[in-house]
Amino acid sequence: IILNKAEAGVELQKQDLLKLLKLSAQGDLDLLFLTANKLRQQNLQNSCCVHGIIEFSNHCRNDCFYCGIRKSNSNLQRYRLTANEIVDAAEYAVNTLGFKALVLQSGEDMHYSKEMLVEIVKKIREKCAVLLFMSVGEQSYECYKQMYDAGARGALLRFETSNPKLFREYHKGNKSELAKRIELIKQLISLGYLVATGSLIGLPNQTEEDIINDILLTKSLKVDMYSFGPLIPHPNTPFFGTKLPNLNDFLKVIAISRLIDKNAKILVTTALETLDKEDGKRLGLLAGANSLMINATPKQYKGLYSIYPNKAGTDLETKESIEKTLTLLYSLGRAPTDLGI
Ligand code: 5AD
Repeated sequence: IILNKAEAGVELQKQDLLKLLKLSAQGDLDLLFLTANKLRQQNLQNSCCVHGIIEFSNHCRNDCFYCGIRKSNSNLQRYRLTANEIVDAAEYAVNTLGFKALVLQSGEDMHYSKEMLVEIVKKIREKCAVLLFMSVGEQSYECYKQMYDAGARGALLRFETSNPKLFREYHKGNKSELAKRIELIKQLISLGYLVATGSLIGLPNQTEEDIINDILLTKSLKVDMYSFGPLIPHPNTPFFGTKLPNLNDFLKVIAISRLIDKNAKILVTTALETLDKEDGKRLGLLAGANSLMINATPKQYKGLYSIYPNKAGTDLETKESIEKTLTLLYSLGRAPTDLGI
């Protein structure tokens, strides 16, 4: 009945969403995923955004409990690309590999000043026709404004959890608060950025209600893209040993997001691909998702950007990842956008 309501365009209440999140019988799950997939097809047809991502530094001033590149992980070889290397990597990704949308991501690495980031954006936009997303954490409003003026048009910034208590607890040691993070996300939208946000699923002590609140917060922010990822416990973090989320539990988050937001872009994150290397990407795309990222970091650094262990795709050349992704998309009858010359 809840699914019929969703299909008919009736707005689902929080209690409905909670019920969906609690489904566990395989038949029920299949129906949920099928309905989400149908809504995706009806509203967005077979398009699938494929963005490249360049991870340009794994230095980070923060100490997030879940993240492998947190500053107190002394067990990690750190790297950073020079401004020129970043521009070259972007140029190769766009002008040779054919990406039309790129994400530049890093830890909160204060080595890159506002001026440097702005200069990098400018140079890339001079050399490449590309939709450029920045994923560089909590920078100042002024920095985001200047990057926008220099030609950046997208920003990825997760709120990580909509529960302020969990946010505080797991970001102890950072100068950050949930309210401040949400304020910045709103500012990014007002600056004109296409914004992707979302949370981590599987944080210790996160409840089902928290997860529904995460989905609803994403919707209320009216962002362009939903980005949820399963928490993959990293051995050099306080979360080592916590339970990996179950694949179906995570797919429910994607499907529920689709039920409440028919036109949104919903991302299959690399963490989902990592959760199930064989099939994560395909199952995400069949549960309502319609966007993907391909790692376009220069190969020698791919393994070092270990926000979580055994990250999918780190063993591949970018070209191979593109081929694999295209094969998968075509097998599902999907048409990649933002990729191909
Ligand atoms: N598992 C999954 N995702 C993680 N992130 C950080 N650490 C992990 C982990 N162990 C996510 C955060 C961040 C994004 C870049 O990576 O949500 O926003």
